[in-house]
Amino acid sequence: MSNAPLQAVRITSVTRESPSVRTYSFSPGFSFRPGQFVMVTIPGIDEIPMALSRADAITVQKVGDATAALFRAGPGDLLGIRGPFGNGFPSSKKTLAIAGGVGAAPLRPLAVGGEVECLLLGARTAEELLFLPELAGKTRVMVATDDGSSGYHGPVTGLMNELPLTEYRQVCVCGPERMLHAVLLALDAAGMAGRSYFSLHRYMKCGIGICGSCCMDPDGRRVCRDGPVFAGDTLLTSELGKYSRDASGRKKPV
Ligand SMILES: Cc1cc2nc3c(=O)[nH]c(=O)nc-3n(C[C@H](O)[C@H](O)[C@H](O)COP(=O)(O)OP(=O)(O)OC[C@H]3O[C@@H](n4cnc5c(N)ncnc54)[C@H](O)[C@@H]3O)c2cc1C
Ligand code: FES
Repeated sequence: MSNAPLQAVRITSVTRESPSVRTYSFSPGFSFRPGQFVMVTIPGIDEIPMALSRADAITVQKVGDATAALFRAGPGDLLGIRGPFGNGFPSSKKTLAIAGGVGAAPLRPLAVGGEVECLLLGARTAEELLFLPELAGKTRVMVATDDGSSGYHGPVTGLMNELPLTEYRQVCVCGPERMLHAVLLALDAAGMAGRSYFSLHRYMKCGIGICGSCCMDPDGRRVCRDGPVFAGDTLLTSELGKYSRDASGRKKPV
C-alpha cells in the first residue's frame, strides 16, 4: 500500500483560470501519472483531494470552506501534500479525451504530454473553459458550452455525435457526475464502454484505502485506491449517476 508521508510545499504562483477556478503552482513538485490525485492540507482548515493538473500544480474550483481558504492563500504560503495516490489514466497515443468544467484538470497533463488526439472541452460558459489556449496548441480541441457562448450550444455529449468514436483506441473522461453518466451511456451505445476510462469523485478521508468513505456500490470498490479511474464497462451497473455518499456515509442523489 502506498502511504506517502505528508510533505510541505510552498505556493510559487497562482493563476486565475476562470472566475471560480485557480491553479496553484508549488515547489517541490511530484513524479506522477496523469489522473492521479493528492490529498491537500490547508493548514488549520481541512484536508481535501485534488487532481494534479501538472507535476507541481493543482487546479481548484471554489465550492466550500476548504477551497475558499485555498483562494485566500498566495505565493509563499505553505500547503501539506500526501500522495500522489490512485491509478491514473492508461496511456495511448490515440486517445479521445472528454472534459467538463474542472474535470479538465486531470486530463490536462495527458493532453500536454501529447497523448490526446482530440479533446472535447465543455463548460457552462465561454469564460469557464479551462486551459483552452494551452490545450489548443497541443491537440485538436472541440468546445461545448451550456449557454452557447462558445462552440457547440449544449452538453459536451452533443459533440460526440460528430466523431468516429470507434476509431479511437480509448476515451478518457472527467467532469461532473451527470455528464460522466451521459457520456458513459453514449459510449456504451457505441460499443466503447470497455475502452473508456472515467475519473470519479467520491468523498475521501484517508485517500489510501483504509477508511471506506469512498466505497462505491455494489462491489465496495474504493475510489481512492482502486481508482479514481475506472473502466466504463465496470461502471454500468454501479451507483454512478444515481447517488454518492456524504462525509457521514449517507446517500445523496446526484
Ligand atoms: C480524486 C478527486 C480529485 C479531485 N480533483 C479536483 C480538482 O482537480 N479540482 C477541484 O476543484 N476539485 C477536485 N475534487 C473535488 C474537491 O475535493 C472538492 O471540491 C473539495 O473537497 C471541496 O471542499 P470544500 O471544503 O471547499 O467544500 P465543501 O463545502 O466541504 O464540499 C463541497 C462538495 O465538495 C465535495 N467534497 C468535500 N469534501 C470532500 C472530500 N474530502 N473528498 C471528496 N469530495 C469532497 C462534496 O461533494 C461536497 O458536497 C476532487 C475530488 C476527488 C475525490
Ligand atoms: S478515502 Fe479512505 S478508503 Fe478511500
